[in-house]
Amino acid sequence: MPISFDQASGLFKLDTKNSTYMIEIYREGYLLHPYYGGYIPDENVKDLCYRGTFASFSPQNPRILDEPFSPDLAPMEYSCNGTGDYRLSALQVRGSGGDASTDIRYVSHKIYRGKPALTGLPATYAGEEEAQTLELLTRDAVTGVYVTLLYTVFEELGAMTRSVVVENRSQEPVDLERVYSCCVDFPGMDYKMTHLYGQWFKERTVATRRLEHGIQSIASKRGASSHNHNPFLCLSSLNSTEESGEAFGFNFVYSGNFDLSVEVDQRGTTRLIGGINATDFGWRLEPGESFTAPEMVMVYSSQGLGGMSRTFHKLYSSHLIRGKWKDVKRPVLINSWEAAFFDFDDDKLVEFAEEAAKLGIEMLVMDDGWFGKRNLDNCSLGDWYVNEGKLKGGLSSLIERVNRAGLKFGIWYEPEMISPDSDLYRAHPDWCLQVRGREKSIARTQYVLDMSRQDVRDNIFRQMSEVLSKNHVEYLKWDFNRNLTEVGSLLLPPERQKEVFHRFILGTYDLMDRFTRAFPEILFENCSGGGGRFDPGMLYYSPQIWCSDNTDAIERLTIQFGTSLCYPVSTFGAHVAHRPRTPLSTRGNVALCGTFGYELDPRKLTEKEKELVKKQIADFNRYNDVIQRGDLYRLITPTENPFHCAWEFVSSDRREALLTVVTMRQRETPFLILRLRGLDPEKYYRDAETGEIYSGALLMNAGINLTPRPDGAYEEAALDGGSLVKYFTVQQ
Ligand code: GLA
Repeated sequence: MPISFDQASGLFKLDTKNSTYMIEIYREGYLLHPYYGGYIPDENVKDLCYRGTFASFSPQNPRILDEPFSPDLAPMEYSCNGTGDYRLSALQVRGSGGDASTDIRYVSHKIYRGKPALTGLPATYAGEEEAQTLELLTRDAVTGVYVTLLYTVFEELGAMTRSVVVENRSQEPVDLERVYSCCVDFPGMDYKMTHLYGQWFKERTVATRRLEHGIQSIASKRGASSHNHNPFLCLSSLNSTEESGEAFGFNFVYSGNFDLSVEVDQRGTTRLIGGINATDFGWRLEPGESFTAPEMVMVYSSQGLGGMSRTFHKLYSSHLIRGKWKDVKRPVLINSWEAAFFDFDDDKLVEFAEEAAKLGIEMLVMDDGWFGKRNLDNCSLGDWYVNEGKLKGGLSSLIERVNRAGLKFGIWYEPEMISPDSDLYRAHPDWCLQVRGREKSIARTQYVLDMSRQDVRDNIFRQMSEVLSKNHVEYLKWDFNRNLTEVGSLLLPPERQKEVFHRFILGTYDLMDRFTRAFPEILFENCSGGGGRFDPGMLYYSPQIWCSDNTDAIERLTIQFGTSLCYPVSTFGAHVAHRPRTPLSTRGNVALCGTFGYELDPRKLTEKEKELVKKQIADFNRYNDVIQRGDLYRLITPTENPFHCAWEFVSSDRREALLTVVTMRQRETPFLILRLRGLDPEKYYRDAETGEIYSGALLMNAGINLTPRPDGAYEEAALDGGSLVKYFTVQQ
């Protein structure tokens, strides 16, 4: 059994095939955390909680004076504020007494098969045979708050999830000030911290630093997970590499304000907490009410960052992404945005479709600009009816023509937004987020709807479903092009205004849930000025997310590599655009590491380019299985090597491998022998292009020689922006 409890020692053991996580019920009901790391069979771990004699002024429980225990020194399972543990707090409740001291102690527990859903929140899911769950019920005796710590173990995947439910069983309201989803204490400070930073057009660049004394954190208080920091953090051993050493990955299943903080304390031990950012968060909990904190996913790897990433990919592909499109090849699409921006009409789109059909493209997506009177980004958000001046004959006529050309049809929306110049705003100025008496900030000439309001959500649902139910729409791009300011709701009383950030996200999830239920056939692609909401919360509702507005193939390398730290490439919206700095072949090869599509005017392609596009699409269709379902190996990381970037997909049966190499900058001596990974050393693989046969052992130990040859082979690939793709299959 992956979860066991030993009554005599009071120890819970949560095992996956490669990891063990332990919790101890200590004296007076304190919950301690003796161990998290590689799998151990033993129960004899209590000594691990002993962290030496007392340090400066560490408080004690007056009932435990005969042992060197202090909440300030012990590894605490879920840290509380103000009762002896001065390190980062996971929980802070302001009770009816007005103070914020909090202290939870063990009450009871349950262990059961499967995994419960989290009310109103996205989360990983599992059948009864796929996971086991531990619920630890605890209580704060003074506030009367009961706190359930939830742990689900995916034994076969080497992953765990955590969440927290707080219930007010007292007779008075209480105020939740911090409810983090996880707290993990580590015994030392010899770790590297890896995270993903960025901005619009440059999302998810990998950064790594060594932990230092003090607090180091990544966070968002933008009302979105954001371009700037992704809700992902990894602690890895100092000697870890891409393929070796320990890595502990944390990814928060939430699309709003988050905080992942790591504190190295006076003793040189490390605490990580992660959850909804306590800044700008609060929740009034009335008697009988409960609050659920979103899910934290935790992955342990003994095979470096690469092993950690592959576990995240498997978990998300099989236990987070849902619906009809989960395991299905996604249509190769052409999107109108970079080809036309707002300058299109029905005829132009039909011409795009007709040209695209000849190339093998399967779907046309009509991006921004089809509704209200929108010809620029300065109006009409919220007016979700067709601009018949542009689409003469209306939407159904356009879709019929596109379908007749042989393409499916997709559409763009930005449901949470409202333009000041819109009929919706003129009719309902109270419907956007606002603070009484304070001028509203504007961004991209738009305000944000108050998604905490049911009437607002109902209106958007009604308007959009009117279009979706009457027209043959097969794809929907859900955009979100600004962050939140003046976050207040006119419907809530002052003491609940602190809830609006979280209520906004709950409202967005509710709306997404309604759409995915009402239109289960539609393929949803999430977007936020590119990848400003690339998080697992969004992946629960949409199996793909537009990675970045930056479609330059070389720039995309660092973006896509960073994104792959915890998200599967089957979720990366990646298109070939008109960015001639890089050859079309390389733009195609880079987009192959994603859902694949085009974002250019197909009428402007030369005959030679059209032939190449046809080949690219044929390649994507041929390799899709190994790309969508294979294991990813990052061979050469673009931020670590100035010349090359290389990656490889290997099918789970190790019978197929797809290798891509991109030359970002030409080397003075273009010499490259590349060693592959993940193959079966005993099998023989055929290079589909050259027909050469190599053992897996040779390809992994000696490598394949990609140095340019006198006959011209590999020459183009070695030039600035050049690239190659190689496909290997096991010889029968
Ligand atoms: C965002 C998206 C783009 C495009 C525009 C339309 O920036 O990332 O792909 O849809 O909005 O306004």
